[in-house]
Amino acid sequence: MASPKKGSQLAIIGAGSVGSAIAFACLMRSVVSELLINDFNEKICEGQVLDLQDAAFVSATKVKVATLRQCGEADIIVITAGARQRPGETRDALVLRNEEILKGVLEGMQPIKKTAILVLVANPVNILTCMAQKMSGLPTHQVIGTGTLLDSVRLRVALKQHLHVSERSIHAYIVGDHGDKQVAVWSSAHVGGKPLLAFEKLQGIDLDEEAKKVANKAYSIIDLKGATSFGIAAVVSEIALSITLNRLTISPLSTYSERFDACLSFPVSLGTNGVDTIVYPDMDEKELALVEASAKTTREACAKYTK
Ligand code: 2OP
Repeated sequence: MASPKKGSQLAIIGAGSVGSAIAFACLMRSVVSELLINDFNEKICEGQVLDLQDAAFVSATKVKVATLRQCGEADIIVITAGARQRPGETRDALVLRNEEILKGVLEGMQPIKKTAILVLVANPVNILTCMAQKMSGLPTHQVIGTGTLLDSVRLRVALKQHLHVSERSIHAYIVGDHGDKQVAVWSSAHVGGKPLLAFEKLQGIDLDEEAKKVANKAYSIIDLKGATSFGIAAVVSEIALSITLNRLTISPLSTYSERFDACLSFPVSLGTNGVDTIVYPDMDEKELALVEASAKTTREACAKYTK
């Protein structure tokens, strides 16, 4: 069992299906020594914590209920609180409801620990990340969103079926929007140093169709079971480990991009201090135009937030 740093805390705001799955994933991987769980529904929160405590015997992590103020003192703060997508509803349609919820959460946590890393999970994730960058009081590089990491994982797993190569060795990124405008950057994707598009095993495969299935995967899951939870939970546990272990792993996450003057998802190296470096993949003209279009939408949506 991994030993987490003594006294390290990860707080999860929102103990619904996403928040509790994240708690379980972080517990199983002993990401920190203490998990703090908060939900405005105190009964659900207590129930989730009691249930998680039963699972903690295989972990080096303790779990407890916490107030928003206590969560504001954690090293990593994961915000899942928000309305969930109804079947067929887009992530963007959640913005007004989730802005209101995020505002309350950010106010309730103040003053947030100066070195904390804030991880936005609720949707639309780029817009909420931008809002939290403006309103949390933390430096921009300490406020990230889960962005297109889950989409990129979904794409890599789909490509694995054709390439017979571990998804961890497939360097293919989805960037920009975690939603309907997401962009698969095929032109510079590679596997073992060889351009992905040069693989014979992919000849005859409609890659745009693969990307479309990835973009629609959350809709399919929501239609079938009402919400997505396990994929995003695994993704957040990876993000949290990259932070606690200062791994500087490169993952596509929502971050402020000066180049596009918008909060978008791009590959970033992530460590204990938050985002270290943004690594823009080379994009062809078509990919770049799609990213620019999505930057414009996000920039306009975020214009109303002020520090
Ligand atoms: C997902 O992609 C719904 O954003 C969530 O699973």
